[in-house]
Amino acid sequence: MSRIAYVNGRYRPHGEAMVHVEDRGFQFSDGVYEVCEVRGGRLVDERRHMARLKRSLDALRIALPMSSAALSIVLRETVRRNRVRDGIVYLQVTRGAARRDHAFPPAGTAPGIVVTARTLDPGRGERLAAEGIAVITVPDNRWGRVDIKSVLPNVLAKQAAREQGAREAWFVDAQGFVTEGSSSNAWIVTPGGAVVTRPADHGILSGIARAVVLDTVAAQGLTLIERAFTAKEAQAAREAFVTAASQIVQPVVRIDGKPVGDGRPGPVATALRREFHRHAELS
Ligand code: PDD
Repeated sequence: MSRIAYVNGRYRPHGEAMVHVEDRGFQFSDGVYEVCEVRGGRLVDERRHMARLKRSLDALRIALPMSSAALSIVLRETVRRNRVRDGIVYLQVTRGAARRDHAFPPAGTAPGIVVTARTLDPGRGERLAAEGIAVITVPDNRWGRVDIKSVLPNVLAKQAAREQGAREAWFVDAQGFVTEGSSSNAWIVTPGGAVVTRPADHGILSGIARAVVLDTVAAQGLTLIERAFTAKEAQAAREAFVTAASQIVQPVVRIDGKPVGDGRPGPVATALRREFHRHAELS
């Protein structure tokens, strides 16, 4: 089946879906994006993804290129045209195409928008969750506004992880605390059973899956502590895991080559993964 992408007002065959060479997303990474899970053909937590998109756009002073209602229709139409039942829908909004200049383009330059959707094999996520994933740690050398969903050090960090046989890289700040993963939020379960994750300040992206897991943790009566933790503490933790819209909850079983707990996915991460969609919104 041929894939379809939405590009600046038109649905195009994937292979012909192009943005202009002067699009500022291409030239400067001058844009923001969202990745929303699709489940049973419906969007998971669309409302929260749209709220975060607006926050990111406001912070970068980029206009939403269409009304929220129209955007919601485009997201659904892209999912429908690609016949995605379980997968993701991706959207990127850029500051538009204009003659290359670091400063913002003239007022009235239309923002650019791209939407794609693709099927993800649910079995693959389940297989990974059954085995657990490895992460490595890297210095957090990103800019000071990582709460805006926009990225390049993340790409380098993820590649470093892949080259070392791991699936994710955890950024570590100058004080030695883990901030987040290159495309996920980071969590541990302490030896005492408390679930710990860093507060959603400017040091991390406030993940939508993170918000869902906070609700899931509360519903399960688990103790939650929002505080920073070091990679060393994580290695000595009972469990560790990551969250992201595209991964839900993935247990982490190795950090920088050292096993976490007994080196297998733990019961807390497994239960949070199982219960996740009870606490997510479908629309
Ligand atoms: N990444 N931190 C970073 C740096 C991320 O890129 C992501 C998501 C998250 C988790 O956020 P959420 O729970 O809203 O997905 C945290 C998406 C999935 C991506 O880039 O593909």
